Amino acid sequence: MKLKVGILGATGAVGQKFVRLLENHPWFEISALAASSRSAGKAYHDAAHWIESTPIPIGISEMIVQEARPGLDCDFVFSGLDSSVAGDIESDFATAGYPVISNAKNFRMEADVPLIIPEVNPDHLILIERQKWEGGGYIVTNPNCATVGLTLALKPIEDAFGIEAVSVVTLQALSGAGYPGVSSLDSLGNVVPFISGEEDKLATEPLKLLGDVSEDGIADRSFPISAQCTRVPVMDGHLECVSVKLRRKGTAKQLEKVLRDFQSPDLVRDLPSSPEQAILVLDEEDGPQPRKHVLTGGGMTVTIGRIRPCEILDVKMVVLSHNTIRGAAGGAILNAELLASKGLIPHREELASSA
Ligand SMILES: NC(=O)c1ccc[n+]([C@@H]2O[C@H](COP(=O)([O-])OP(=O)(O)OC[C@H]3O[C@@H](n4cnc5c(N)ncnc54)[C@H](OP(=O)(O)O)[C@@H]3O)[C@@H](O)[C@H]2O)c1
Repeated sequence: MKLKVGILGATGAVGQKFVRLLENHPWFEISALAASSRSAGKAYHDAAHWIESTPIPIGISEMIVQEARPGLDCDFVFSGLDSSVAGDIESDFATAGYPVISNAKNFRMEADVPLIIPEVNPDHLILIERQKWEGGGYIVTNPNCATVGLTLALKPIEDAFGIEAVSVVTLQALSGAGYPGVSSLDSLGNVVPFISGEEDKLATEPLKLLGDVSEDGIADRSFPISAQCTRVPVMDGHLECVSVKLRRKGTAKQLEKVLRDFQSPDLVRDLPSSPEQAILVLDEEDGPQPRKHVLTGGGMTVTIGRIRPCEILDVKMVVLSHNTIRGAAGGAILNAELLASKGLIPHREELASSA
């Protein structure tokens, strides 16, 4: 029996990506769609300004959007809620006993909330045990859309060499700003060198993701990350120019080998949304490029190229990841699959009958 999924923020850019990626999912089926009172009561096709490039899945199009309040008929919820409301609404669902798998920033850095990239830190899920919501639910988060690519690239480097410092300059896609996002007059033929709050997230979230977990919680890494974020007129795909200072000596060639050899943990490799390779090092000299590489591995693979010595730090490279798939809905679905594979998402009917 498939697990029943509710999507909070189902009408937004990330919500729509959930709807598309969950079509024909082997373990999950959508049973509830929720958004603001502006959308509640409408058929999904009327409430959502559909921006995906394939039609709304049959069976979803006519579903009635509900208010984002506990009581939804589902075993767990994905949240693609605007951060201005995600804090209260996600707390309400956790308090009502639902597992909440969130894309929003609100709980990511809370000490008892796992911030997860399954290939990087699946062991951090034990933090769930520290959460004390009244009704027994919990919240698990996935990182900011630019953090994911950076952290996946840093993970093998940290394991092999240790990291002393990172400098990153991002070129981030328009879809990262949701819909309607940045106006056409601000974005076309232009680069905007400011994304509110983004640089702080890039400077802090990787340190939690790469941290060590123990009974006392997470001990974050402490190396400095200097981030500069820009918005560029690209539809999908965040490109990041990254320089790394290593703690132990290593050449660009050695670092490239470490990235090429990276393997997902066994428990992640067999999950339905796990790509064949979490990291793909490209051979071409002019990659990665958003238009050519963003859908590698169904949008779940991080592509890396231009690995070479850095004249100031030690090694530099270019990293690309899909911001609404790996960086949002796809990453959250992989988190849910990891939770389900560990038996951490029960069917709510079973819960009710055992109570
Ligand atoms: N876009 C990305 O690449 C990306 C990546 C990672 C994380 N995120 C995060 O994911 C979340 C969603 O981003 P997005 O790009 O999909 O934004 P979006 O397109 O603006 O969608 C926001 C969603 O939140 C709902 N919402 C707004 N106010 C609400 C309220 N008072 N009650 C209930 N629902 C409400 C909206 O419903 P209505 O349509 O009814 O207004 C809509 O479904 C944000 O927290 C964002 O930071 C986005």
